[in-house]
Amino acid sequence: GIEIGEHGYKYRIVDGLMVPPYVTPTRYNASRTVVTRPTDVCYCSFPKSGSTWLATVLYLLLNDGVEPEGRPLRSNLHWMESSWTYPRTQAEVDALPSPRIFKSHMPHRMALAGGPRNSPCKHIYIARNPKDVAVSYYHFESGKAWSGRYNGTWEHWLRIFTEGRVQRGDWFEHVLSWWEQRDAPNLLFLKYEDLKSDFRGQLRRIAAYLQVQLSAEAEERIVSATTFAHMRAAGFSNHKHIADFEGFFRKGEIGSWKDRFTMAQSEAFDKLCRQRMAGSGLEFDFE
Ligand code: A3P
Repeated sequence: GIEIGEHGYKYRIVDGLMVPPYVTPTRYNASRTVVTRPTDVCYCSFPKSGSTWLATVLYLLLNDGVEPEGRPLRSNLHWMESSWTYPRTQAEVDALPSPRIFKSHMPHRMALAGGPRNSPCKHIYIARNPKDVAVSYYHFESGKAWSGRYNGTWEHWLRIFTEGRVQRGDWFEHVLSWWEQRDAPNLLFLKYEDLKSDFRGQLRRIAAYLQVQLSAEAEERIVSATTFAHMRAAGFSNHKHIADFEGFFRKGEIGSWKDRFTMAQSEAFDKLCRQRMAGSGLEFDFE
C-alpha cells in the first residue's frame, strides 16, 4: 500500500525499491514482462536527469523533427510502470504502431522488458551529475500535486537523498547499475552535461544508434525545438495537463546545485561520490 514517510513524503515499496504511489505492483509487473520490438526505443533515468528533454529529442528524431500537433508529447510516450497512463496490457501495446517510445525510471535490476540483455528494443539511459539531480528533485518533490508532496527542508532532503531514501532509491546504485551494462549493443548511455555542452554531437550519436537518417533540415528543427526556452514556453512536456511546469522546466543548467549546497554539504557529497564511484570509470561535470 501507500506509505507516508517523514515530512509527508508519499511512496510505495515495490520489489524492495521506494517508488511513487502510482507505480503499483501490477503496473511494475506489466512493465517488466512487456514484449518489445527491435524498432522500439526505451529510455530510462533516475528522476530529474533530463528525461523529458531526451524524450522530446527521441520523438522528434523518429518523426523527422516535426512536433506533435494537437496532442501532447506524453501521449506518444508509453509509461508502463505508471497507473496513470495507457497502454496497460500487452494487447494494448501490440496495437500501437512502430516505432514506439517507452519510458521508465527503474534501476537496471527492475528494467523495462527485463533490460537490454533480455529484450530486442533499443535502450537509452541518461544520467546527470548527482548534485544537480538532488537539487532538481528537491524542488520537484516539494509540495506539488503530482509529486511526493514532500515538505521537509533542503538539509533533510539531502540526507534522505544521500541515504537512498527517496523515490527510485539510491542514485549511485541506479546509475551504476546501468553503467555496468554499457557494453550491451542495445544500450546507449548518455549524460545530461554532454547534451548541454555538445547537443549536436550527442544528437548525431543518438541518431546513429537509432539508425535514423538525419537530414540537415530535421537537425535544425530538432535543435530549435529542444532548447530549454522553447520547451518551457511550449509546455512541450509529458505532463501538459498540469498547468505548473516548474518541476519539468525549472532552470535547465549545469551547476544549479550551487544555489542550495553549502560548502560543507558540497565537500561531504564530493567525498561520498569519490567513495561510491571509485573504480567505476564514470565521471560527471559539475560545472
Ligand atoms: P532543473 O530542475 O535543474 O532545471 P526530468 O525531465 O528527467 O524530470 O528532468 C528535469 C530537469 O531537466 C530539470 O532540471 C529541467 O529544467 C531540465 N530540462 C528540461 N528540459 C530541458 C532542456 N530542453 N534543456 C536543458 N535542461 C532541460
